[in-house]
Amino acid sequence: MIPKETIQNIIETARVEEVISDFVTLQKRGVNYVARCPFHDEKTPSFVVSPSKGIYKCFGCGKAGNAVNFVMEHEHFSYPEALKYLARKYNIEVQEEEQTPEQTEEENKREILYNIHDFASAYFVDQLFNSQEGKSIALPYFKERDFDTKTIQDFHLGYAPQKRDTFYQYALAHGYKKEYLIESGLVIEKNNSFFDRFAGRVLFPIHSLSGRVIGFGGRIMGNDKKTAKYLNSPETLIYHKSKVLYGMYFAKNEIIKQDRCYLVEGYTDVISLHQTGIKNVVASSGTSLTEGQIRLIQRYTKNITILYDGDPAGIKASFRGIDMILSQGMNVRILLFPEGEDPDSFARSHRSSETLEFLQNNTEDFIQFKTRVLLEESQKDPIKKAALVKDIVQSIAMIPDPVIREVYTKECSVMLEMSEAVLVRELNNILRNKFRKKHQQISYSLPVEEEKAEPQNIVSNLLDREAQERDILRLLFSYPDHELEFEDENTGDKRTSKTITVPLQEFILSNLWKYSITFENPEYQKILEMLLASYEKGEKIDPQYYINLPDEKINSIIINLILNKYEISSNWKELGNIIVIREEDNLKKAAEQAILALGEKIIKKEIEEKKQALKEANEEEVEPLLKDLMESEKKWRFMCQKLGRILSP
Ligand code: CTP
Ligand code: MN
Repeated sequence: MIPKETIQNIIETARVEEVISDFVTLQKRGVNYVARCPFHDEKTPSFVVSPSKGIYKCFGCGKAGNAVNFVMEHEHFSYPEALKYLARKYNIEVQEEEQTPEQTEEENKREILYNIHDFASAYFVDQLFNSQEGKSIALPYFKERDFDTKTIQDFHLGYAPQKRDTFYQYALAHGYKKEYLIESGLVIEKNNSFFDRFAGRVLFPIHSLSGRVIGFGGRIMGNDKKTAKYLNSPETLIYHKSKVLYGMYFAKNEIIKQDRCYLVEGYTDVISLHQTGIKNVVASSGTSLTEGQIRLIQRYTKNITILYDGDPAGIKASFRGIDMILSQGMNVRILLFPEGEDPDSFARSHRSSETLEFLQNNTEDFIQFKTRVLLEESQKDPIKKAALVKDIVQSIAMIPDPVIREVYTKECSVMLEMSEAVLVRELNNILRNKFRKKHQQISYSLPVEEEKAEPQNIVSNLLDREAQERDILRLLFSYPDHELEFEDENTGDKRTSKTITVPLQEFILSNLWKYSITFENPEYQKILEMLLASYEKGEKIDPQYYINLPDEKINSIIINLILNKYEISSNWKELGNIIVIREEDNLKKAAEQAILALGEKIIKKEIEEKKQALKEANEEEVEPLLKDLMESEKKWRFMCQKLGRILSP
């Protein structure tokens, strides 16, 4: 753990503009800097860095934060990784805090395992290039596979000598302990003798996201059917197979750039595609993706293209796994290689441009692909066709976005030559079942009382939000210079005591902006639009300006707001033991409450409208409406809790 004081020191030392300018070209604009946002594609700069506030914000995509957040976001670092990065940049020594003995031991062990892997990887590389064996068999093997020297070096490919314990002896001689060598998986103990796991194999080191070696895959040189073609490192403290994808360290930047990840099966597929210039590619190492691996890809993109070698049985077996990828909201495309080819062999037998073109022109959307494959199989067999319709609709039902679901339903109805209504009915059945299951789970964790009948007057009250709208404007104009202090939540780590100050105006307006809140009172809305326009330009809001606008109605509204400012006479402040808290003393709370109070009204109205719509809905519409309604009610309960109200609608 990094001690609090060190974290504080790092955050105070790091200059947001210096940190960001290592990655982005900043241009001075007044007291701030602007740039084209590194987090989304744009032509005109809307990314603003404020050195005085220590923060950045993109007015295009909304990403915002401090120096730590920036490196977390940009480099995909965890919080501690980001702090360590900044500490290195500013030469701040990080002495990690005392841990429990168990923590220390595990941490130490992990560090030792990393060291062993570094050491081993360097050794295997050396053996490949410099040993007699390496030069005479291993290097020629790689060359025969058309890996050029640069590729071999870039991927740190290596070779483990044939003699069964060469590495073991070498590591022992360099002070590495037997027990750790065994724990690393590089050495295997059997009846008190010790063997190198990878003896006689060429090696593909597996890297962590930050580029450290955490394991190996080892291949025999040749096609001996009796020996396992590949051997892999076992699970260890540093290698968790379900969370690692081979090649991610080399691919991540290109995945972000291309906004797409190619998924292949094997080590050699990744390497050959890289060599041919396609770098946004990772391998699952022959198994179907785990949830952890999907989340890993999702850190960089929502678009995945799965490359298959053309083996029909294998393809069909993978369909279930792909449903899971869909359910995580990813867009899945498929690319089928010609029979007998895998990405590696294809890339080797074609020019780079041909491979690239093939990848670009031959992908097919997964749902279409699945429909087509199953359809070919079930031609003219009505029973099979019925099963296949269910199967495909099952996949569509996995997709979280209802709009995308609808598009697929339309498309598939054409492909299957079936009426859309049939598919929709089937889809709704599945969705309804899923919904029920989920609904049951929710009501366990969030017990809600039976709704009581509402008194009449609440309904009219409920639609009137003028008081809440007015209150927000009042705060904006009454406290133009006040700043609010916040714990820096963006870091996602409570250990930091860093607070950031945000002007009250910015706090309120950014929230209204973020949630696209509009006012119902037309005069108030007019004012709000002006305020938001100023906010977007980064201007401060000066009440005088509004008071002096050539619009009497607005003038008087503002003046009344300011004059009505709730003032407590100074001798009320302390009445015996009763301390009256003035609004100024807790403006943050006042601002939060004002926004929440309005939000609550808005959601309440939405809920009423949705309930009404539900009454009038036909069968197909019930499921999505109900789901929608549940979401709104959840939001509403959350807001009420925040407002400190009792739940009694
Ligand atoms: N694999 C494995 N153990 C095996 C076979 C395969 O771990 N016995 C994993 C490896 O990660 C391999 C991937 O599954 O890269 C794909 O297997 P396969 O297609 O058989 O291998 P290729 O990558 O094509 O390897 P090569 O071209 O070297 O034969
Ligand atoms: Mn292959």
